[in-house]
Amino acid sequence: MHDLEGREVDYLRISITDRCNLRCIYCIPQGVTLACCKQNEYLTKEELFKVVKVAASVGITKVKLTGGEPLLRKDIVALVKGIKAIEGIQQVTLTTNGILLDTYGKALVEAGIDAVNISLDTLNRKKYAALTGYDGLSKVLKGIHILKEAGLKKIKLNTVPLKDMNEQEIVELVQFAKQEQLILRFIELMPFGGGKAFLGMSKQEIVETLERNCGTLIPYHNTLGNGPAQYYTLQTKDVKIGFIHAISQHFCSTCNRIRVTCEGYLKLCLHSNKGIDLKPYLASSEKTLEEVMRQAIQNKPKQHQFNHVTQVQQLEDKMMSQIGG
Ligand code: GTP
Ligand code: 5AD
Ligand code: SF4
Repeated sequence: MHDLEGREVDYLRISITDRCNLRCIYCIPQGVTLACCKQNEYLTKEELFKVVKVAASVGITKVKLTGGEPLLRKDIVALVKGIKAIEGIQQVTLTTNGILLDTYGKALVEAGIDAVNISLDTLNRKKYAALTGYDGLSKVLKGIHILKEAGLKKIKLNTVPLKDMNEQEIVELVQFAKQEQLILRFIELMPFGGGKAFLGMSKQEIVETLERNCGTLIPYHNTLGNGPAQYYTLQTKDVKIGFIHAISQHFCSTCNRIRVTCEGYLKLCLHSNKGIDLKPYLASSEKTLEEVMRQAIQNKPKQHQFNHVTQVQQLEDKMMSQIGG
């Protein structure tokens, strides 16, 4: 369906847990203990199916499972299988830090996952541990190979380039993506949670570094996902590189997505307000829930409020790991 701004909303991002097995410095601030939901506050598998079924009835065709770390949910494979089976859902994808792909990767591909995005900010083992709080690089690399061996073609890497942290490594990441036939995306640092304490690299700085080392970047206009990334290729045409720049060039006018948090809040924008609590409607009829969703989507905010930080602090106190990016 379309909202009042004329945007077609067909993409639902569900954060299925706010727990995470990593502590990326730009996500969870150092020294902070995350206040996670209690076990009985998370939407159950059946509640999630109901939300997706109703979302499909108002025009959602693509579902992304995020976290925290979505593979921390023991029912992840059943969730993928069940959501894939819902009428109207054409695509189920996942964004993960990759640590548990060695356990679940094969089963996820067998369950029909359509694409997987994996966070990877460095190929240096020590730096990976410094950035994430865990010496897990080899597990992530193994997970990527498991997905590939199981036959998954659509795998992307998400990198958040930070000044003086992994700035030196973006060229190596491009070479790795080329060698492994993966799509690499650079995500602009957002002033969320831990992100407020660091300086990100601008798109221009990244482009300059890549062009100096790898050659000219050529815009690539074919669709490579459902999200807001803008893609480029190199003259050699053997790797695709995407940019997600939510702050410096926001993409709100073409936003196609809504979010549901693990405790059942429907968020109409990544950064605007707390959203609508769907829990009270989950026990009622699908018609009632459908009406709530329809009304909410119609009134989706025009744009995010990252540039009005003080106002947002009053409206929104969650971190990225609690919203799902
Ligand atoms: P595909 O294009 O289908 O691969 O997915 P995606 O890019 O939507 O998914 P992913 O979960 O990998 O998101 C990558 C980054 O984009 C995350 O850091 C998100 O926070 C960011 N992102 C996605 N949607 C939005 C949005 O609506 N607003 C903002 N500000 N950032 C977003
Ligand atoms: N700014 C930009 N991206 C972030 N992510 C987490 N926190 C931030 C932040 N402050 C990214 C992760 C992951 C994606 C889902 O969100 O790197 O790839
Ligand atoms: Fe890192 Fe994602 Fe976990 Fe945040 S939610 S700590 S970005 S793996």
